[in-house]
Amino acid sequence: MSQRIVVTGTDTGIGKTIFAAGLADLLGATYWKPIQAGLEGETDSSVVARLGGLSGDRILSEPYRLRTPASPHHAAAIDGVRIDADALDVPDTGGRRLVIEGSGGLMVPLDRSALYIDVFARWRIPVVLCARTALGTINHSLLSIEALQNRGIELLGIAFIGESNPESERAICEIGSVRRLGRLPRLSPLTNDTLRSAFAASFKSADFDS
Ligand SMILES: Nc1ncnc2c1ncn2[C@@H]1O[C@H](COP(=O)(O)OP(=O)(O)O)[C@@H](O)[C@H]1O
Ligand SMILES: [Mg+2]
Repeated sequence: MSQRIVVTGTDTGIGKTIFAAGLADLLGATYWKPIQAGLEGETDSSVVARLGGLSGDRILSEPYRLRTPASPHHAAAIDGVRIDADALDVPDTGGRRLVIEGSGGLMVPLDRSALYIDVFARWRIPVVLCARTALGTINHSLLSIEALQNRGIELLGIAFIGESNPESERAICEIGSVRRLGRLPRLSPLTNDTLRSAFAASFKSADFDS
């Protein structure tokens, strides 16, 4: 069983945080957001606590809390902080499962030289790739899959988010040779209950054991 899972995606704003909330709830996992860029309104950690129904002890604190909603390297520069990508290590959860959410897509810079994907490669933790189902997703998804393969990062599978688009989903999974984990539809209302039911209907806990 993979104790630790990285939730990443093809882009920002595609539903990684909502997915991570549902996944942490499904697996009884703890959640960790290493770099939070943007502190106005709800942070990703508070969204996950609310929508995943996670108690405070299942949300680890973010090593980097940056004020500006921007790429981590830029948000850090604005705050006069340097992100030390080499020193970013996964906290010990004492055997509890951990869902880790990146920022944006795979190739977001953390500083002048490191990309988030380099950190994932160093951690050697399996990844779930979240992908939209809307137009444009095939290109973004296949590029992301190739980048993961190039660095030898284990990909547990793709989690689609949005309305059903069987042809795009088929093309991505076939051409990229990746497992389809399921699809989380747009939920309205979006609550802990609706997310939990949609997750139970769309994803199997066993698929997240590598
Ligand atoms: N399955 C969903 N149903 C309804 N709204 C969603 C869903 N997934 C994402 N959203 C909404 O889309 C926006 C972006 O989602 P978020 O999870 O924050 O994206 P990311 O973490 O990839 O930046 C948020 O307002 C969120 O509430
Ligand atoms: Mg997010």
